[in-house]
Amino acid sequence: MTIEQTFQQIFDSRPEILVRAPGRVNLIGEHTDYNDGFVLPAAIDRSIGFAGRKRADRVVRVHSRDFDASAEFSLDDIQKDGKNPWSNYIRGVSKYLEEDGHRLSGADMVFGGDVPREAGLSSSAAVEVGTAALWKNLLHLDVDPVYLVKLSRKAENQFVGVPCGIMDQFICALGRENHALFLDCRDLTYRHVPLRDDVKIVVCNSGVKRALAQSEYEVRLNQCRQAVAQIASTGLAVKSLRDVTPADLEAARSILSGILFRRARHIVTENHRVVEAVKVLESGDLECFGRLMNASHESLRDDYEVSSKELDVLVELAWKQPGVLGARMTGAGFGGCTVNLVRQEAAEAFAEAVRRGYQNALGLKAEIYICKASQGALSI
Ligand code: GLA
Repeated sequence: MTIEQTFQQIFDSRPEILVRAPGRVNLIGEHTDYNDGFVLPAAIDRSIGFAGRKRADRVVRVHSRDFDASAEFSLDDIQKDGKNPWSNYIRGVSKYLEEDGHRLSGADMVFGGDVPREAGLSSSAAVEVGTAALWKNLLHLDVDPVYLVKLSRKAENQFVGVPCGIMDQFICALGRENHALFLDCRDLTYRHVPLRDDVKIVVCNSGVKRALAQSEYEVRLNQCRQAVAQIASTGLAVKSLRDVTPADLEAARSILSGILFRRARHIVTENHRVVEAVKVLESGDLECFGRLMNASHESLRDDYEVSSKELDVLVELAWKQPGVLGARMTGAGFGGCTVNLVRQEAAEAFAEAVRRGYQNALGLKAEIYICKASQGALSI
């Protein structure tokens, strides 16, 4: 059943507006976004669809197809919902639009899709950005996409309470078909970088969700802040790890603890890898791009320590397959997915071999998606 049909069934009327917000995979540039650094994600062809219709009052009724549950709230008093936490993304985005002076009307909404949840493919960003896009189209709001990206992130940070960076909402809104997006997370300038169609983005879902993910994310965030403060205390004018060069870091080695040094080294080297990766992608050197992905994985595993046994097994299996250019964990880590760049003709066999190898090594089932870089929900 389509989202439109579900809407018809639940609300007994036709929706006025349909929007689609994609999940994402990050090709390279991990944990750099909240350090004012560089990222290179792509929106994927797995998405969350929304259908909506205005109401004459100030009530929002929303149905989640995936949870098979409904929730309702008034735009005049938007509170967090402990019983239906899936509705908090919608509440948060609605609340901050209202707070910014956009007078919303009541609405009926249905949403659902095929972005796996808690798999590191940004299903929550897709719900936030999808909600923002729905309001924009339903009420003809004259707002800039980047404004809605920031507002969606605010909903995640302040309303839902997850301290993420800006990458996920940005790519979900502004992805482009057959392109990755090179984003400078400090000034939010970006450009789309074409991806060749003879190479596939293959995503392997470890199927493992780690309770640790959020608490360890916060630990990394604080370690980065501490490292900046300690490096700045030597008299260097650095506001974030983005400003730290490899030479600065080496010079600060003696004042940083071993852990802080390694955390900072991941960020400093990862930013450099993203810039290099964009250069070689634009020049067509995909072998070099793949080597940068592999180095990113090693740095995330050894210096940043956000990988997991399952992710390492998936990556090591991938590295051995014919036609693989590069493989690494993607997203926050501690479970979730790996991203692999694989020559088109080898992609199917790759998927099969990794699935089998993972099952043999750990007795676990990996879901594998051969993806196409797709359009964002607010692409212009
Ligand atoms: C999560 C966050 C992003 C980013 C990545 C790690 O996906 O939501 O902002 O920090 O982790 O790169």
